[in-house]
Amino acid sequence: MYGSLVTVWTGRRPTIVIGDPKVACDLLDRRSAIYSSRPRFVVMGELFTNNDSLLTMPHGDKWRKTRKIFHSGLLRRACETYKPIQEAESQRLARDLLERPADFGRHLERYAASVMVCVAYGRRVDDLDDSIVRRIYERMRYMSTLNVPGAFWAESFPLLKRVPDCLARWKREVKQRAEASSTLLMELAQQVHDRMQAGETPASFTKNLWEKYEADPTELTPREIAYATGSLFGAGSDTSSATLMSFILAMTCFPHVARKAQAEIDSVVGRGRAPTWSDEPSLPYCAAVIKETLRWRPVAVMGGTPHASIKDDYYEGHFIPKGTTILGNLWAIHHNSKYFKDSHEFIPERYLEVQEGTEPYPHRDGHSAFGWGRRICPGKLLAENSLFISITRILWGFNIEKHVDPATGVEDVYNTFAYTDGFNSKPQPFRCCITPRSAQIRDTIEHEAKLGEKFLERYS
Ligand code: HEM
Repeated sequence: MYGSLVTVWTGRRPTIVIGDPKVACDLLDRRSAIYSSRPRFVVMGELFTNNDSLLTMPHGDKWRKTRKIFHSGLLRRACETYKPIQEAESQRLARDLLERPADFGRHLERYAASVMVCVAYGRRVDDLDDSIVRRIYERMRYMSTLNVPGAFWAESFPLLKRVPDCLARWKREVKQRAEASSTLLMELAQQVHDRMQAGETPASFTKNLWEKYEADPTELTPREIAYATGSLFGAGSDTSSATLMSFILAMTCFPHVARKAQAEIDSVVGRGRAPTWSDEPSLPYCAAVIKETLRWRPVAVMGGTPHASIKDDYYEGHFIPKGTTILGNLWAIHHNSKYFKDSHEFIPERYLEVQEGTEPYPHRDGHSAFGWGRRICPGKLLAENSLFISITRILWGFNIEKHVDPATGVEDVYNTFAYTDGFNSKPQPFRCCITPRSAQIRDTIEHEAKLGEKFLERYS
């Protein structure tokens, strides 16, 4: 209604909300030297994590150093070493879907969590009731309550941060929780170190950082190791499972898309085995399904953690003062009719054919689900690999249909806008019918799951 660049004033503090991908790319990508900081987060950033978490870290030397740590552990070469974990976990996911299809949401969550814990700590998650996962989720749940606008006066009046603890119960609680959180992250990192001392430990992000630390202890501290890996799980687990949930919803509501993707898989891969990494270049329609999922229902509806500018700037006649908070409104950007016709329809073809009457998207990905510029999601490649191997395996293995009440024969009605509120958004619980495509496929899923389990033994 108000155009592609809207300013919201909170007292004297401006927040800019961007609703056009071109404006987002112009500012957040092309001028990323100016727009790559984060706004001040008094409670979650300063009090809870001491700004040791990459997500909320302001621009500066500490952020540059931490970002480098992330890049070294998530570069293409490092991601290649994680592919066998993702493949084996997706084999387990397929068997879970075979055995208990109604619990698909839980299976997708377990898959995403296990991939992240394996990558982060070299230890897998067999069940979501795993004590590590419960403790990490509990920490994440608490963190999500800290970032709710209006929850803490200290966000609007940072001086309140200086009130003595004995007079501020809220601050005592945040600090106590911060200490418990720090203990948890240190304990998880230390466990990897202990296992390294005891002998063979599988490759992991934490192991890699301990090796760097041992080679040169001035490079980074044990706390930096613990927090880097902690941010990894927090940022990578829910985002991946929420995207997979949106994929299942899309396949339920747009079954012709699933059929077309299955025809592609059948012609390239056949039914005797599931798709693997070497098939990726030959599955362009499946790649388009993944892109369309990320566009259609972006997890980070408001673009994730906001950016902030570190210098005064002008854009098309508008003055943008230093310290402005910038939100890339991914919901508006991905549904901007200038770039996407019938944006709420699930149309992978928009990534394969020229779309008459729309402008080309200003980023080569064709969406911005992973953010922008120097703050772009460092886990993008890892996440894309996780999505590829699980989504193609599900399409190869299963038919996904609307749920029909066995007593009345009435089909469920689906609302593709029923999503959770909050920082990361995922579909509200829904039912669908997931069945193997053939008896041969069922046998192959069971056989491949055994191979996957054998491989994953080293992460037990
Ligand atoms: C489908 C899955 C994922 C989606 C949609 C996603 C999306 C995003 C978005 C939108 C941002 C904010 C970017 C910005 O500020 O411009 C972000 C940041 C981040 N993501 Fe992801 N992400 C995903 C998976 C992952 C994974 C698997 C990891 C870890 C391996 C990860 C780690 C991070 C971190 C650490 C940041 C903060 C970067 C910074 O502030 O410098 N994400 N992600």
